[in-house]
Amino acid sequence: MTQSSGKIRMGMVGGGQGAFIGDVHRLAARLDGDIELVCGAFSRDPENCRITGEALGVAPARSYTDFNEMMRTEAALPANERMEFVAIVTPNHVHFPVAKAALEAGFSVLSDKPATLNLEEALELRKIVQANNGLAYGLTHTYLGYPLVGEARGIIESGGIGKVRKVFVEYIQGWLATEVENKQADWRTDPARSGGSGCMGDIGTHAHNLAEFMTGKRMTHVAADLSIFVEGRRLDDDGSALFKMEDGVKGTLSASQVCVGVENGLSIRVYGETGGLEWHQEEPNTLKRTYSDRPTELIRAAQGYLSEGAQGWFRTPPGHPEGYIEAFANCYREFGKALRSQGGVASGIDAAVRGMAFIEALLESSENDSAWTEIKQ
Ligand SMILES: NC(=O)c1ccc[n+]([C@@H]2O[C@H](COP(=O)([O-])OP(=O)(O)OC[C@H]3O[C@@H](n4cnc5c(N)ncnc54)[C@H](O)[C@@H]3O)[C@@H](O)[C@H]2O)c1
Repeated sequence: MTQSSGKIRMGMVGGGQGAFIGDVHRLAARLDGDIELVCGAFSRDPENCRITGEALGVAPARSYTDFNEMMRTEAALPANERMEFVAIVTPNHVHFPVAKAALEAGFSVLSDKPATLNLEEALELRKIVQANNGLAYGLTHTYLGYPLVGEARGIIESGGIGKVRKVFVEYIQGWLATEVENKQADWRTDPARSGGSGCMGDIGTHAHNLAEFMTGKRMTHVAADLSIFVEGRRLDDDGSALFKMEDGVKGTLSASQVCVGVENGLSIRVYGETGGLEWHQEEPNTLKRTYSDRPTELIRAAQGYLSEGAQGWFRTPPGHPEGYIEAFANCYREFGKALRSQGGVASGIDAAVRGMAFIEALLESSENDSAWTEIKQ
């Protein structure tokens, strides 16, 4: 691994002008002042690459028009100048080729989800990550960066709700309720660029990842029903699944992009033998905790009674709402620490493979009349 005492040097692939998540990554990466953007191949369009690089203050010689050229050229720079990791913020079909090229050129990778286009690529990626064990690989499952999600995980881990029995997780949106013509909808509804699933790949994977992270249990089987509601669409825009996890935990997962008027409704409820927890992404600074023999508690963000770990993830005092950008910044902070060998990441290559195996199991189950199907990784 490249050692450096200064800021961590980041490169980016994707995130050209007009893109969605690239800007969010850049804001998050610089929030704590530990990471600087030094290069990028921001778009497939050379002019967009140039304009974006210029607007971001990237040196013209390091604003590349092709990610392979970026890997080659950066690798040839002195160790204290070249980028240390690459953030991948392209559509799904470009994640694997960029991650592979980066890792093989000696760079760590922080990729957006889903990790790859399909399970086969994810398994290949795992081999590449394992073969380059001095490098870090992380996946920006943003929602794990919310401090109260970490608090909930801690409560469950320490037996705070007893043995976990039941999980309800849903991620619903409304923006694809009709045919939509924009850059983001274009590739998300195209199997060649999105993968075998639309809605489940795009947001169902977040729900799966959140359920596994919060409970600390792996999802083992699904019985799924995926739908295409908008005529002419080639990938699912809605779906539900019953699921089973390790240790007898059972649950339901729903994801939909056709729930008219819903913005970004990611919610999770987990119930154990002695209590329950409930968290909603659109109200991320409150965690509801229920008991059988005590009144319900509303656990609030940044309060001194939170665990040390959760407190360390807030940047402002109680009552000053933090949200999406800060959660993303926590993913970057955690990845930065992993890069400097001070720990692992909550979503790494294991989560990457599991996310893709989850999608494949959903597709197989739905095609087989919702038969119970094993998640094979
Ligand atoms: N973690 C989250 O919360 C979250 C939220 C939104 C999107 N995402 C993920 O982020 C990724 C990007 O989504 P988006 O909505 O920003 O898409 P987008 O279409 O808005 O942006 C994609 C960008 O990638 C560029 N690109 C495409 N091919 C390229 C190539 N070969 N080389 C360089 N650049 C290339 C495009 O020009 C564009 O600038 C997706 O994988 C998506 O699933 C994650």
